[in-house]
Amino acid sequence: MANLTSFFNPKSIAIIGASKSPEKIGNVIVKNITSSGYTGMVFPINPREKEINGLVCYPSINMAPAPVELAVISVPSTMVLEVVKACGKSGVKNLVVITAGFKETGKKGLELEKTLASICHQYKMQMLGPNCVGFIDTHTPINASFAAGFPMKGEIAFISQSGAMVISILDWSTSVGLGFSKFISLGNKTNLNEAHFIEHVADDPNTKVILCYIEDVENGTLFLETARRASRKKPLIILKSGISQAGARAASSHTGALAGSDLAYEAAFLQSGVIRVRSMSELFDLAIAFANQPIPGGERVAIITNSGGPGIVATDNIELKNLKMAHFTKDTIKELGQFLPGESNIYNPVDVLGDAKADRYRLATNKVMDDQGVDSAVVLLCAGGVTEPVETARAMIEIKKNHPEKPLVAAFMGGELVAEGANTLAAAGIPCYNFPEPAISSLSGMVSYARNIHLLEDETVLTYQDIDAKSVRSILNQVKRDNRLVLLGSEAAKLISAYGIPATTTILTTQPEEAADVAEKMGYPVVLKVASPRITHKTDVGGVKFGLESFEEVRKGFIEIMEKIQMYMPRVAVNGVEVQRMMPKGTELIIGMTRDIQFGPLIAFGLGGIYVNLIKDVSFRLAHRLSIREIKKLIGETKAYSLLRGYRGEPPADIGAIVEVIGRFAKLVTDFPEITEVDINPLFAYSKGVSAVDVKITIS
Ligand code: ACO
Repeated sequence: MANLTSFFNPKSIAIIGASKSPEKIGNVIVKNITSSGYTGMVFPINPREKEINGLVCYPSINMAPAPVELAVISVPSTMVLEVVKACGKSGVKNLVVITAGFKETGKKGLELEKTLASICHQYKMQMLGPNCVGFIDTHTPINASFAAGFPMKGEIAFISQSGAMVISILDWSTSVGLGFSKFISLGNKTNLNEAHFIEHVADDPNTKVILCYIEDVENGTLFLETARRASRKKPLIILKSGISQAGARAASSHTGALAGSDLAYEAAFLQSGVIRVRSMSELFDLAIAFANQPIPGGERVAIITNSGGPGIVATDNIELKNLKMAHFTKDTIKELGQFLPGESNIYNPVDVLGDAKADRYRLATNKVMDDQGVDSAVVLLCAGGVTEPVETARAMIEIKKNHPEKPLVAAFMGGELVAEGANTLAAAGIPCYNFPEPAISSLSGMVSYARNIHLLEDETVLTYQDIDAKSVRSILNQVKRDNRLVLLGSEAAKLISAYGIPATTTILTTQPEEAADVAEKMGYPVVLKVASPRITHKTDVGGVKFGLESFEEVRKGFIEIMEKIQMYMPRVAVNGVEVQRMMPKGTELIIGMTRDIQFGPLIAFGLGGIYVNLIKDVSFRLAHRLSIREIKKLIGETKAYSLLRGYRGEPPADIGAIVEVIGRFAKLVTDFPEITEVDINPLFAYSKGVSAVDVKITIS
């Protein structure tokens, strides 16, 4: 992993491409560094100048009077390679390349970027960018960017793949008084990417909350490992836009068709404890709450309001966002009843009425914050003729001091009338939103973070001593030798059995009598299925016969299947007919896998059978380090789970066996990267054990 300590806190900086012209980025960067309070040495580099902004200017990096720990480069793209090489030769280890004109511009730019990457690699340099705004660290302090202004010191780190977003958020943050520890503009992520910076800020004592805006991740496994470690240390909130390429590719399996483009990211965030938000406003609403408030001890929320409508909106949102309305103790209700006017609602949501001044808010907020059955509180205030927003804000600040362990957030609704009160709250670290919804969403985000980190503690991954990887390898080798991409049903059944996944016995036969002999030994009833990697919908072409009970039925069935195939698909090569034990019906499930470009195998589980695409009762997880806890959560998320627990008097299914099968399945698809898609559909679940009836495996 990268070591970014000297990157963010260098003893010396060179600005290569420094300029005297105030309109040039090379000039803005020099100004930003010197005006940010940076106390290290600053060396502008420009072959034509002797002095820039009062600083001695040097013609090249190797002429700098002291070793350079960080070089910020803003020369045109045609000169970047030469300059970066010179940095490498001079022993510079950290680079920021502002210059645009690389892979974002097409093939030529991509080639340039590849060379840039290899120079960094050759000289063991760490590089932010290219095509970025740079970075800011308010604690060093340093502004190694061309963004205008300097943010307030704070505890939020913002890592962004969009440079424009960095610039605009920086400007906005100063207007609302929100402080940041770091701003990092990732640019093209050629060398350092989001994972390196997440890793660094997770251990940064000046950062309490990590915010990310990303369009993709560079390295799925590295991201998963890093995000998981970071989330355990502090909240990692991510806004991800764009659509992954995995979903864009045509999928040939059920699982592939079910797995939408974004599902792998969704699973990755879920499994690594990341808090995913869907909008920019949510990203910052949550950040404000996390930066200033404690993590709630539970999900029970109290509402104090001076108006019924917003109280109801907040109550609805509490339910929508998986929180609970707190039930007050008898003492709280009694005291609220004693001190509030008779018309007030003394139950949750507490309505202190439209004519409430600060004293009623003080009393009600204090009482509910004291209540042991309350984990957090939301104060709603609608601007009115007699409201006292500033006094109310001050009362809340006092109360919060006495309840450091419980979050207190607010929504002051109105414009000018509430602005000062809202600012008073914000300045004291009490998040104040414009409406109830973001206030509730923020609490909900904090509660789900608390749940997540608790769950991340249990990461037991099943291990298996009895798996037979050699058999799987030899089956796959045979398929490759035959130049096939799809396994026959009999091969697929054997393959999963080698990993301990119970599969219905399936034997390939090539003659009618042979099939009948096999059936005699297997025991009746049996099923016959045409064996051909080219025929995917066997039933549609008369390629399946169920419930055959005798030698003669099987012999005849074989012949009939072959005749039908000859009739419907005369040009398709057929390997024979598979004889399979006819299994008693169990709950029909699907376990599948499709491979995501970034994150590897994505596992699907849900209700199986022929209606799988219609019903779409399927949940997803990544196979990477899939823990027992996650497998249980995966099963629990589906409607199939209600059936498995025993629906309407049916006996419950063997959920333990399903957990085991999913664990083994995850291991199988992780061990063999050439397996690109799998559908086990149906997998019959019984009250004891399971059996994979139909298995389709595709390889690359
Ligand atoms: N060593 C040192 N200085 C050099 C060298 C060298 N080898 N070669 C040239 N210079 C000097 C130039 O002489 C010039 O100085 P001067 O003003 O004294 O003449 C200075 O470096 C800059 O070179 P210019 O040719 O004037 O380049 P300019 O400043 O116009 O552009 C820049 C350079 C800003 C890097 C441009 O190429 C670029 O990439 N712009 C886009 C930046 C961007 O948008 N980045 C992504 C941000 S993310 C977002 O979306 C907002």
